[in-house]
Amino acid sequence: MEKTEKIWLNGKLVNWDDAKVHILSHAFNYGTGVFEGIRVYQTPKGPAVFRLKDHVKRLMEGCKIMGIDLVFEGKEYGFDDIVEAIKETVRVNGEAVDYAKPCIYLSGEEVGLNPVHVPSSMSVTCVHMGAYLGPASDEGAKIITSSWQRPDNLCSPAGAKVNGTYVTSTLAKREAVRQGASEAVMLNSVGHVAECTGENIFIYRRGKIMTPMVSECILEGITRDSIIKVARDMGYEVLETQVSRSQLVGADEVWMTGTAAEIHAVGYIDGRVIGDGKIGEVTKAIHARFHDIVTGKVPEYEDWLDYVN
Ligand SMILES: Cc1ncc(COP(=O)(O)O)c(C=O)c1O
Repeated sequence: MEKTEKIWLNGKLVNWDDAKVHILSHAFNYGTGVFEGIRVYQTPKGPAVFRLKDHVKRLMEGCKIMGIDLVFEGKEYGFDDIVEAIKETVRVNGEAVDYAKPCIYLSGEEVGLNPVHVPSSMSVTCVHMGAYLGPASDEGAKIITSSWQRPDNLCSPAGAKVNGTYVTSTLAKREAVRQGASEAVMLNSVGHVAECTGENIFIYRRGKIMTPMVSECILEGITRDSIIKVARDMGYEVLETQVSRSQLVGADEVWMTGTAAEIHAVGYIDGRVIGDGKIGEVTKAIHARFHDIVTGKVPEYEDWLDYVN
């Protein structure tokens, strides 16, 4: 992938090639880390990080449930320090970056599983991601229903972005790509629609928008939350509920939401066409509104933008 200039590592900005972890680090071996993916948009007031504080809150909550201390090389970090570290990394890497990835992980060297007292580290990487699921077009994405199940809350904390939990997402993604699809939707342990490998999912059916509720073992997506609010403000009825596979496949429109994917229409699920296979009217309208919001054109949503300069 394309390198950027600097990576923030435990309080210092280091060159991309110098941001290293030891082969025996606990996180590398057991997935004991928590990360975030955060979008940076260009606005008339300069680069802005979208819902930065909400991402940092989720990151810190993830560390709390994982028991990872926010002490990196002897210094304790708080909410404001983490916010500033992310902004600083965005600033130094210039205008080409559109995605920031902070990660807090057990960096200490261990051969055993015990995570207690293993030292932690934090990194912030900024990259140019562009369109995560391919360039914008009217075509809806082809997705499959994965044979892998969305891990539920008895396996790992579904509400946190825990590195190790993403093994399931990568299995499902591989399954999708091997079948010529771009994404996979995963069902939860009781067979309800949960989410995609890196996106939440929405449907428009019988005049209402529906999305799996948080207790269905999904990540409580920040884009999901934004779209629920924006759609309601636009006058749509939005239900956070259980969604069955039949409701999904029978929907008039289906779209995915995520920081990386933003809003992406689904045209086919397991070879069955959704609508006419192209982006639907509701998806299109919400997508356009969201785009205006993130690029700083809608004053009532200014709160969601954190300017880096
Ligand atoms: C499994 C999963 N679900 C949903 C999402 C969407 O969450 P957000 O909108 O906060 O990026 C992500 C992306 O981070 C994800 O990894």
